[in-house]
This record gives sequence, C-alpha cells and structure tokens, in this order.
Amino acid sequence: MRQKSALITGVAGMDGSHLAELLLEKDYHVFGVIKRNATRNLENAAHLENDIDIIEGDVTDMSSMLRIIQACRPHELYNLAAQSHVHTSFEQPLASMDITANGIINILEVIKALGYSTRIFHASTSEMFGSSPAPQSMETRFEPQSPYAIAKLAAHHFVKLYRNAYHMHASTGITFNHEGPRRGPLFVTRKISMGVAKCLKDPNFKLYLGNIHAKRDWGYAPDFVKGFYMTLQQEKPGDYIFSTGETHTVQEFCEKAFGHVGLNWEDHVEYDRFLMRPSEVDELCGDFSKTTETIGWKPEVTFDKLVEIMVEYDCKLLGVEKK
Ligand code: GDD
Repeated sequence: MRQKSALITGVAGMDGSHLAELLLEKDYHVFGVIKRNATRNLENAAHLENDIDIIEGDVTDMSSMLRIIQACRPHELYNLAAQSHVHTSFEQPLASMDITANGIINILEVIKALGYSTRIFHASTSEMFGSSPAPQSMETRFEPQSPYAIAKLAAHHFVKLYRNAYHMHASTGITFNHEGPRRGPLFVTRKISMGVAKCLKDPNFKLYLGNIHAKRDWGYAPDFVKGFYMTLQQEKPGDYIFSTGETHTVQEFCEKAFGHVGLNWEDHVEYDRFLMRPSEVDELCGDFSKTTETIGWKPEVTFDKLVEIMVEYDCKLLGVEKK
C-alpha cells in the first residue's frame, strides 16, 4: 500500500497533470478532481487515467468538496483549480471570483470542519502584484489589476487567515508565469509557439497579438510543480515565490520563437486591438531568493530553452520542419 495520498484540484490542467506525474514518481496515491462539463474532458491528464483516481467534482460546490475530501482523506491537497485566463476574467468577473476565490474557501472550511491534518497548497499568482514595480518579492505591495488578480488575492488572504487563526498547514505559492507544451492555446506563449508551426506550414499565416510590450517572468511548468511539492514537505506552512528572476517582453518571445525556425517574426505577427486588456500588468519579475533559502527550490529551465521546447513540440505536432 502507498504511504501517502494527494488530492489535486484542476488535475486536467497543465500544472495539475505535471504534478500528478511527479507525485506518482514519488509513489503517492493520487486523486484528481475534474469538472464535468457537457462531456467528460481529461485534457492534459488523459494519459494518467489508469494511474490516478479521477473524481468528478466542483470546487465551487462545498458539498462536492466535502464528499471528495471525506472519501480520499488525503495527506496533501493541491488546489490548482481556477479560472486562469486574465482576459476572460474581465468578461466573467463573477464566475472568476466564484471559482478562484470561493473554491479555496470551500476547501479550507471542509478540512477545518472535518478536523483533518491535511496539508494544503494553494496556487497564488504574481498577478496579485499588478502595478507594483518589478522586481517583486514577498515584501512587495499587492496592486491587482484584473478581476482574476483580485479573486486570487482574496484567496491568498483566506489561506493565510486559516493558517493563522486555525493553525492549519496551509501554504501558498506565488507563481509567476510558467509555461510548456501543455499550456492552453489562448495563453500568449503557446499561441506564439503554435503560430510559428502554422507559419512553417503556411507562409501566409498571420498571428494576431495584443500588447507585445508587456514583460513577463516566464518559467517552465515542470520546474514549478516541484516547488509546490517541496512546499508541502516543510514542517511549517508558508508563502513562497516561484519565478526565474528574468523578464522578457512578448515581442522577445516572438523574436526567439520565430528565430528558432529561421523566420522573422515581423513578417507574420499583426496587431489586434481586441486582444488588449482593459487594464494591463506591465512588468513582472520575481525575486525567488527567499524560496531558495527556505525550501531549497530554484528553477532549472532557462528562457531560451523554454522557447525551444515549446516551438519544437508544436512543429512536431504539425509535422513541420525548421527552415
Ligand atoms: N493571452 C494573450 N493572447 N496574451 C497576449 C496576447 C494574446 O493574443 N497578446 C499579447 N498578450 C499579452 C497579455 O496582454 C499579457 O501581458 C501577456 O501577453 C501574457 O498573457 P497570458 O499568456 O494570457 O498570461 P498572463 O500573464 O495574463 O497570466 C498568466 O500568468 C499568471 C501568472 O503571472 C496566467 O497563467 C495566469 O493564470 C497566471 O496567474
């Protein structure tokens, strides 16, 4: 019998699926929650269906979380479920608040009521820093600039409150952008890597983007989920930044990605004003030094390598070769 069990909400997402793989390697019994829509969609977790226990549920429904947590009684719980598209949150502020903020309140309340000693990891976000100047550290003021960021900030404070008030082992990871081939196609990095492959297939293909001057600290998702796991192995709960400490513009991502296959980004990228956000976060760059000092985590994959991994994956997917 396996020694430890973990429950992952949002297991079908990029992070959820990478984390499930990591925990399986560590011989955990992994339970993964997926939200059932009209059809059952395992997305990134489809290849794990025989190795983990998939449970249908919804973090916005406390009775659903009660049923699941009681049935699994996990040693560790990773709350990765969210409405994670910043742009969408402007169009769906209430739904974003419900999934992203109320979801973790339901989980905290259930674990508190059951009196379980489950260790909880909650995925917070660098978006909470919003308009505060880079570099951002644990001392930086939160200035959220979107409904998504406001919901995440509420969730962040709820985790801290339950930790302090009820002595729960509840931690957060303030994650800066993290990417990889499992990233959804609406996020800018994947949109670009898929765009590069489409341009190789059809030289007339145009990639439409919004603000290419925004700066982001882009890391590699499998590196980050190691940090989530390390967080819950600590005797004491806490809040940690996961980032790379480097920042690049969206334009630089384009330059590298198109350049990797011998194309010039300016020949293929066009501006679409409808992709601009009502308010933008101009620059994110995370100082993860305290995370290294405290739990020993640091990122491994560089920006150049990340771009290469994503572009090569999408070229292979479309069956195209670099020039
Ligand atoms: N999505 C998207 N699509 N973004 C674009 C586009 C486009 O066509 N064109 C320019 N951008 C710019 C956005 O305005 C933003 O400044 C930047 O590219 C990155 O956008 P996203 O990839 O959508 O990510 P995000 O930074 O808004 O949010 C991601 O990172 C957060 C952590 O900092 C998401 O993963 C969040 O869930 C996460 O919390």
